[in-house]
Amino acid sequence: MTQYASDPWRPAFHIAPRTGLLNDPNGLVYWDGAYHIFYQWNPHDCTHANKNWAHAVSHDLVRWEELPIALTPEDTFDSHGCYSGSAVADGQELVLIYNGNVRDADGTRQTYQCLARSTDGVHFQKLGPVLSGPLPGYTAHFRDPKVWRDNGEWLMVLGAQTAALEGTVLLLRSPDLVSWTLVRELLAPGEFGYMCECPDYFCIGENDLLIFCEQRSEGGIDSNLAGYVPGVLSVTTRHTAFRRLDHGRDFYAPQTFEAPDGRRLMLAWMGLPEQGDAPSTAFGWMHCLTLPRELSVVGGRLRQSPARELVALRKSHLGSYGLAVSGTMDLVDARSDTFELGLAWPEPASGVAKGTASCRSFTIDMRVGGIERTTLALDFAARSLRLETVRPDGVIQDLGHADFPADVAVCDLRIFVDRSSVEVFAAGGALVLSARVFPSPGAEDLRIRADGTLTLDRLDVWKI
Ligand code: FRU
Repeated sequence: MTQYASDPWRPAFHIAPRTGLLNDPNGLVYWDGAYHIFYQWNPHDCTHANKNWAHAVSHDLVRWEELPIALTPEDTFDSHGCYSGSAVADGQELVLIYNGNVRDADGTRQTYQCLARSTDGVHFQKLGPVLSGPLPGYTAHFRDPKVWRDNGEWLMVLGAQTAALEGTVLLLRSPDLVSWTLVRELLAPGEFGYMCECPDYFCIGENDLLIFCEQRSEGGIDSNLAGYVPGVLSVTTRHTAFRRLDHGRDFYAPQTFEAPDGRRLMLAWMGLPEQGDAPSTAFGWMHCLTLPRELSVVGGRLRQSPARELVALRKSHLGSYGLAVSGTMDLVDARSDTFELGLAWPEPASGVAKGTASCRSFTIDMRVGGIERTTLALDFAARSLRLETVRPDGVIQDLGHADFPADVAVCDLRIFVDRSSVEVFAAGGALVLSARVFPSPGAEDLRIRADGTLTLDRLDVWKI
């Protein structure tokens, strides 16, 4: 508890571990009147070891209550980690389908897809493996089952690596969650790196989308990217179809689920595999989840906006309508380490890419203290967004950038700043950037700098 009091980076409104390390969200499900979130959790220290399934529930997507750990890696089929997976309602039961990770005495990886069930949504009984080992033709990188019900049968997408060490996603089917048969590969091996992790498949209206995380190695450089391909029923290729979900530095292993009103919601890990230490390890914890986001598809492009329930976070409001910003404007009354910022400006005349009136570009400096700041730069002429942070020692860190797609008009921003994160939603959620930042305590100034005159329809700041 003393640690909490002095910890400047403990999120105020994101899910983060009390102690230890969090990674992928797992088993997202609305069940028996509540939203359930599980996540990969090493409660003991900030290393990728000893993965449990932590568990939290909510009735409103805003306040989360921690429940007892749902799965602990203590059985022969999951001894080295209860790895990622999903949850489904089966009759009166809540069933978890997860990956049991096991290492032999010589360190060789074994893989099992396992079930656990619960009748009260709190206590889970492990039922053991339903798929032992990889299917023929695949390596033990065979994990992260995402299961859903479709037309009276169960379907599963599973991340896999072929014997030729190429990543793909498999589709399997089952009548009873216990016996599974392969339907086919959903991605052509060779198109998507050496492994595809954490797949998810769903439809929004007429659009079917496959989400997955591509692990690739090029010129000795490894990359891990979370993205999606539309319409996997007609197999697509990387260059025409794979789109990043989030252009920020810290976004991985997203998982979606359906809210009772039919909305498709997504959360992800605000971190990346193989990332070094975070400053929060000084307080005994590392990583957090993103905000829950609502998904929609506009013109074939996925959009993400913060779940509408999150307006309940808003406290005091500062708002302006029809504002012109020339040069630098300090938002003195908006100083905070937790806030939501909204900006909207008139849509530029069609074909004109120079933005509003005479504004070539503008920047929003957040969490400013001395030379330290986290800056979002929007360049109308270059049609780009860039997020970076300047540390107190002057070192600049790139937190991500994105070009405006040709078919997207960028005329609004919503930004959520928590004590150690920034999530930027631009153009109605067509462009999203998420990153962790660790500002010094007290670095709370907020300002806008316009190159020319920025005419805004609306500027809102809500403290959270
Ligand atoms: C992705 C991942 C998954 C795995 C889990 C282990 O971040 O590597 O593929 O199931 O994390 O924690």
